[in-house]
Amino acid sequence: MKVNINLDKKSYIVHIDELKKIELKTKVAVVTNPTVSAFHLKTLLSKIDALECIVITVPDGEEYKNFDTVNYILEECFTNRLDRKSILIALGGGVIGDMTGFVASIYQRGIEFIQVPTTLLAQVDASVGGKTGINNKFGKNLVGAFWQPKTVYCETKFLKTLPKREFSAGVAEIIKMAVTFDKEFFEWLENNSLHVEENLQIAIEKCVKIKANVVSKDELEEGIRAVLNYGHTFCHVIENETKYTKYLHGEAVSIGIVMANLLANKLGLFSEKECQKVKMLLEKYDLPTYYKINSVESFYEAFFLDKKSFNKKIKFILPKGIGNFSIRNDIDKKTVCNVLSRFL
Ligand SMILES: NC(=O)c1ccc[n+]([C@@H]2O[C@H](COP(=O)([O-])OP(=O)(O)OC[C@H]3O[C@@H](n4cnc5c(N)ncnc54)[C@H](O)[C@@H]3O)[C@@H](O)[C@H]2O)c1
Repeated sequence: MKVNINLDKKSYIVHIDELKKIELKTKVAVVTNPTVSAFHLKTLLSKIDALECIVITVPDGEEYKNFDTVNYILEECFTNRLDRKSILIALGGGVIGDMTGFVASIYQRGIEFIQVPTTLLAQVDASVGGKTGINNKFGKNLVGAFWQPKTVYCETKFLKTLPKREFSAGVAEIIKMAVTFDKEFFEWLENNSLHVEENLQIAIEKCVKIKANVVSKDELEEGIRAVLNYGHTFCHVIENETKYTKYLHGEAVSIGIVMANLLANKLGLFSEKECQKVKMLLEKYDLPTYYKINSVESFYEAFFLDKKSFNKKIKFILPKGIGNFSIRNDIDKKTVCNVLSRFL
C-alpha cells in the first residue's frame, strides 16, 4: 500500500508494507536507540543499498529528546563527513523521528531524511507531516521546524516487538482520527480487531490518508491541522500534572478524548451514546479513561501553559457527532469547570 503526500513544495510516498530495498546513491546515517536497534537494525541495514552507511545510536527516552542529543547527532554527522547530499534515516518511535528530522532540517542548512517508524503512534501520526523538534526546560516540542521526510516506510512487522502499553497508546491516536474525521472508519474499528495484522495495516493506511489530507490542506498548522490535537488540550495538563511519568502520551490522549467528549456533550455537539461508544472502544484496548483531578481551578489554569492557548483563550477541539469536529475558543470557564468537576 502506498499513500501520496502532496504538499505545495514537496511530495512523498508513505509505504505501508513489507520493507523492500532502499536504494540511495549517497552516504546515509541511521539514527536509532539501543532498544530499537536490538530488534530491528539488522533488518533495516540488510535493506539499505548506499554508498556508505553509518549508525548513530542515542539513548532511549523522551528525556533525551533535547539539544544535547541533537548536538551529539550533529557531531557524529560531521565526524563521519556527511555532506549536503547525505541522508539521515530515523529508525524508531516518535522521539527518534522528531529528533532526526530536526537534525536533518539544520545540518548544513538542511538535508533529506527518511522515516522508518517502529511504534504504532509514529506509523499513524508522528512520522507523517513534517513536524520535527525537541523539548527544552520550558516545555515539550518548543524548538523545532517543519521539515518533510523524503519517504516514510511503515513496516507493521516491526510493531510485533512493541510492549502492549505502547501499542495501545498508538491505538488512542487511531481512535482520535476516526472520531474527528471518519464515522465509517470508527464503526469499522468497533467491529474489527487491530490485533489482526491485515486490520492493522488497513487502519494505518486509513490514518495516513487522513493525515495526508489534513497536512496537504494546512501544512503549517494554521487551521484544520489543529484538529489532530483533539484530546490534547486536556492531555497536556494531565501529562504536566503527572510529570510525564504516570501515562504514556497516547494514554493521556485517551483520557483527554473522554474529557473533550463530555465537554462536547455539554454543548450539545455529542450525544451521551456517542460518548459511551468512544469510551468503550478506548477501553477495549485497555486505555485509561479516567483521571482523578485534585483541583479543578489549577487544572483549568494549566490550560494556559499550553503553547496552543492564545490571547488568554483556550482552543478546544471537540467532536461534532462521530466523524466531524468543531474548533472552539469561546467556551466559558463555568462550562469547562463543570465538566472537569466530574473527575474530582
Ligand atoms: N511529529 C509529530 O507530528 C508527532 C506527533 C505525535 C507525537 N510526536 C512525538 O512522538 C513522541 C512519542 O513517540 P512514541 O510514542 O513513538 O514514543 P518513543 O519514540 O519514545 O517510543 C516508545 C518506546 O518504544 C520503544 N520502541 C520503539 N519501537 C519499538 C519496537 N518496534 N519494539 C520495541 N520497542 C520499541 C522506544 O525505544 C521507546 O522506549 C513524543 O516525543 C511526541 O512529541 C510527534
